[in-house]
Amino acid sequence: MKVTPHDTSAGRMDDSGHPAAEVAAYFDRRSATYDAGDFHPRLTARLIEAAGIKEGQTVLDVATGTGLVAIEAARQAGASGRVIGLDISPGMLAQARRKIDDLALPNIELCEGDTCTVDLPPGGFDHILCSAALVFMADIPAVLRGWHRFLKPGGYVGFDAPAENSTAGGSTLAPLALSHGISLGYARLRTREACGEALTDAGFEVAYIHTEIITQRIMPLSEIDAAWAGIINHPLSRPLLDLPPDTLAKLREDFRAKVASLATPEGIVDRNIMHIAFGRKPTMNRLGSKAAALRLRPSSGRAAGRS
Ligand SMILES: C[S@@+](CC[C@H](N)C(=O)[O-])C[C@H]1O[C@@H](n2cnc3c(N)ncnc32)[C@H](O)[C@@H]1O
Repeated sequence: MKVTPHDTSAGRMDDSGHPAAEVAAYFDRRSATYDAGDFHPRLTARLIEAAGIKEGQTVLDVATGTGLVAIEAARQAGASGRVIGLDISPGMLAQARRKIDDLALPNIELCEGDTCTVDLPPGGFDHILCSAALVFMADIPAVLRGWHRFLKPGGYVGFDAPAENSTAGGSTLAPLALSHGISLGYARLRTREACGEALTDAGFEVAYIHTEIITQRIMPLSEIDAAWAGIINHPLSRPLLDLPPDTLAKLREDFRAKVASLATPEGIVDRNIMHIAFGRKPTMNRLGSKAAALRLRPSSGRAAGRS
């Protein structure tokens, strides 16, 4: 399958002004320890479980990272199936490659590329999956339309997104940032309705939207500053770095106050709540259905003799 490589050269920006090379560099730095946490293994397991991949199917894992989704997809698709893992970060892909080699999985191909610009043959996949990454994309509608094109008719797209009632750092920060006029990636697809609309706007039928707590822990109040540091260094928070220093300081205070207000006697309940959404590409596009309906309509002077 031809995958047009993407240019990760420094300075290339996506259309929200995020330097793609910065996103790649951030994940290159995280790659060696990425699998150590429990959030991504649990989330990807839920996405894979909901996908229901069958033997012999073709799967595109967008933003594959260390291959958590791609590896399980390859096991389920079996020797007659095929998986492509696409990612912008060479460091994450190197971790995925190491695991795939250890497992001797022959049916996964890894590609370095940007899902916003990648060129893939239309109708090539039964499933397109994307865990913990769609909210990185500045133009989600365009990305979903691209995936719609790459899917076979009847194929499924599945992604996840942080829910608005998630109390984990970025989700708490997003509404506060919005009050300073900054829209962060965490704020995209925050509701089930937004996930559903994104799917239908791109031409999918909504197949499944489920919201669940993926991880939960008690965070001591003393960790608020560490939480802020983690958020501010995350690529999804990059627009904040353009704020004047006093506005950023105010936002930090708002964040501390908001998180402190969530405290219980045991500490702060830090919940990662995610929407898991699937859409199905109709077997006939809207135009096709309309054309079929017109063909089936009993002929009348007007319908037949349209001029
Ligand atoms: C939080 S990680 C998720 C990795 C994996 N899907 C998982 O669930 O463990 C986000 C991944 O998205 C990748 N990424 C971000 N923007 C991308 C883009 N435009 N195209 C391809 N990969 C991208 C990053 O390099 C990173 O590996």
